[in-house]
Amino acid sequence: MAITSFCHRFMGYSMNLKPNIAIDGPAGAGKSTVAKMVAKKLGFLYIDTGAMYRAVTLKAYRDGVNLDDTKALGEMAAAASVELVAGHDQSTKVFLNGEDVTEEIRSPDISRLVSLVARVPEVRKRLAELQRAMAKQGGVVMEGRDIGTVVLPDARIKIFLTALPEERARRRRIELAAKGYYINQRQMEKEILERDRIDTSRETDPLVSAPDAEIIDNSSYSVEEVVGIIINRVLAGG
Ligand code: CDP
Repeated sequence: MAITSFCHRFMGYSMNLKPNIAIDGPAGAGKSTVAKMVAKKLGFLYIDTGAMYRAVTLKAYRDGVNLDDTKALGEMAAAASVELVAGHDQSTKVFLNGEDVTEEIRSPDISRLVSLVARVPEVRKRLAELQRAMAKQGGVVMEGRDIGTVVLPDARIKIFLTALPEERARRRRIELAAKGYYINQRQMEKEILERDRIDTSRETDPLVSAPDAEIIDNSSYSVEEVVGIIINRVLAGG
């Protein structure tokens, strides 16, 4: 659908705040691709909350913080400045204490460690506050693990996007290869499943589908179809 005709209908649809859209799901399910496309079509702000956990993890990694030391991690997260800056075409730059760490946070080392940092309640509390502040005005497409359940429980539209582990590992391998990191399929699947295990079993804000989320298996649809499902929900009023 053309963006202009959509905007017309959208403005008629609500004179109040624009709705927020929460997209949760495990690693490699295609959340970022879908969320960016939805944000672009609606003129909404795309927010990648995983990037914020990755930035805090990078800080811990550089500072040599023991990842079992939850107190130190909580203090570090409280003191760190983590900023997402929207660029052209839904690209987001990530700044840690003013330094652009957009590329570095995607390294395999950070991917392996991030779930351990994201288990810490104080880290989650701090980042969730920042995320809520970003969504206050409405009109965000926010992706993560706990957006529909904890960060934005009132989001008008909640999607839980999933896909088969083989498919998720395959996608992630291709993405990483494009950045110069080569990981074989079996290793990638192992790492993704381990991250899922930690994310779903942690005590604080585990990865779980919100009761009112629409669960979409991305293995059965094209990206355009998933985007279409979400846009239609927005047009229908949620
Ligand atoms: O992009 P990918 O699916 O690999 O993961 P991500 O969105 O960058 O998130 C990295 C990690 O951050 C996840 O595996 C979770 O451990 C954590 N995370 C979280 O706990 N809560 C969120 N809202 C977002 C990410």
